[in-house]
Amino acid sequence: MAVPLRPWWQDALVYQVYLRSFADANGDGVGDLTGITSRLDHLASLGVDALWLNPCYPSPQRDHGYDVADYFDIHDEYGTLATFDALVAAAAARGIRVLMDLVPSHCSSEHRWFQEAITSPPGSAARARFYFRDGKGEDGSLPPNNWQAAFGGSAWTRLNDDPADGQWYLGTFTPHQPDFDHTDDDVRQLFVDVFEFWFDRGVEGFRVDAVAPTGKHPDLPDQPPVDPDVDVLDITWLNPHTVFRPEGHDVWRDFRSTLDAYEQRHPERELMMVAEAYAVRRPELVRRFTRPDEFHQMFTFDLMLSPWEKTSIERALLDPLELLGDTGVVPAWTLNNHDIQRVVTRLGRADAHLPESWTNNNLASSRADVDHALGARRARAMAALVFALPGSLYLYQGEELGLPEVLGMPDDRRTDPIFALTNGIFEGRDGCRVPLPWTLDPATSFGFSTLPPDAERATLEEPWLPQPSNWGDHSVASEEARPESMLHLYRDLADLRKKYATSQPLATRSIDLGPDVVGVVRGDLVVVVNATGRPAIIDVDHPALVGRRVVLSTCPESDAGTDVVAPDSTVWYVA
Ligand code: GLC
Ligand code: CA
Repeated sequence: MAVPLRPWWQDALVYQVYLRSFADANGDGVGDLTGITSRLDHLASLGVDALWLNPCYPSPQRDHGYDVADYFDIHDEYGTLATFDALVAAAAARGIRVLMDLVPSHCSSEHRWFQEAITSPPGSAARARFYFRDGKGEDGSLPPNNWQAAFGGSAWTRLNDDPADGQWYLGTFTPHQPDFDHTDDDVRQLFVDVFEFWFDRGVEGFRVDAVAPTGKHPDLPDQPPVDPDVDVLDITWLNPHTVFRPEGHDVWRDFRSTLDAYEQRHPERELMMVAEAYAVRRPELVRRFTRPDEFHQMFTFDLMLSPWEKTSIERALLDPLELLGDTGVVPAWTLNNHDIQRVVTRLGRADAHLPESWTNNNLASSRADVDHALGARRARAMAALVFALPGSLYLYQGEELGLPEVLGMPDDRRTDPIFALTNGIFEGRDGCRVPLPWTLDPATSFGFSTLPPDAERATLEEPWLPQPSNWGDHSVASEEARPESMLHLYRDLADLRKKYATSQPLATRSIDLGPDVVGVVRGDLVVVVNATGRPAIIDVDHPALVGRRVVLSTCPESDAGTDVVAPDSTVWYVA
């Protein structure tokens, strides 16, 4: 058997399925596993190698599955272990692997262990799995330290006011997500079991959630003071006692050895873990997390959060590549996920082109005016850039349809805990999680919901988040019919990537083709991005371009020749 040159995940195209909003096969208004199985042809049409499922474990859904109540089962709204197995098999039949989402930093306050902890005495083994501490002050009524929660408020919650047992527990995100103490043996064993359970069911790897705050300073000291201007949602990420701690790396080494041991017992499997952490503009961290005994890959969010401006874009793509250069590790790129405003809206903002609009905060976002048509042009150009880069690429459902962020959702329909915990100061992330439009038919929530053939009533529930009335214009059916749509561009990009990009060497460098453009060379492929609103004249006599022809322009209607790149567009040249 031929030995593959690279592991499959290294340059995989992965499609992120936010399953609550992907496809609802039983008409209750909530996406489910059978819905995904019924729509796998859509993923196949995009040439994806794998799908990544957001958490689908039993959960009270206070943070939509990132509050896991049981790591060994399926959330009842989503299906059962049997429907999960059916999805894995149907995906495998199309050559699509399944990645799951692993949430090790915390569980749900409804997890059996946490329930046991709160009914067990201070100092008990049940409490040692979490961070329970006495409060400060005479009656213990002050939190053990000054840490803030990532989604607003204190990171500590007191069990009750009883001075005999008024202990506090730590929840880095919300009070419903108590942090695990990974130095505890039960906790360590739990994750060994979790990995093995899902690998046995055919899962090929995990996106590992909230890597940054996993692992704490053992003494839990106060966070040093932060500038009073710092946004409330940023405070946690500046806490050196809980973010990017050395203790976290012990956890990742344990995880990796579990995974490697499994692979050794099953040599036909090629398993992987990709780390989710916002190490933006800190590529040295990507290097640290992808050491050979830790993660296989780590997300590189720099491009996702980059302003639409030449120097920022260049830096966002070249810094991580240069820093990983000699390690053989390649990044996991992405332009969207379920935590971030959708790219069409982000890049359509009136301030999107300003270098100073760059933000490290993945949750807050600009409120400047949006020009969606402009945002869509830039999103097309950004996609054509990222599809050319070495590494894997994670698409977020709806990105291929060019869905905008749904802004101005009624407050009473919002479900993201960020909205409630910041008293509405931050809208939260519901706007990028609105159920997908598949058809033009409003009666079925634009094809999001269907009923099983034997269903008695033809009444479908409303989707869990409201869809805008024009959502059908972005539907798969509608874009299918329009050759210039985002969907067709994504399919073309997926083909072109396989044809001209993934076969190229990993080494990628920038070239100077003119003052206004980003020029990137990867082997025989040259990609030119014009991040300005003016046509850009490029130096076609540059040795990198001589003898090359255009195979793609994201602005096909422009009459630009090979020496002119249309405003806010990207062109691919090949030998
Ligand atoms: C990650 C997830 C996000 C979740 C948080 C807490 O950032 O992507 O959706 O709310 O972790 O688990
Ligand atoms: Ca459903």
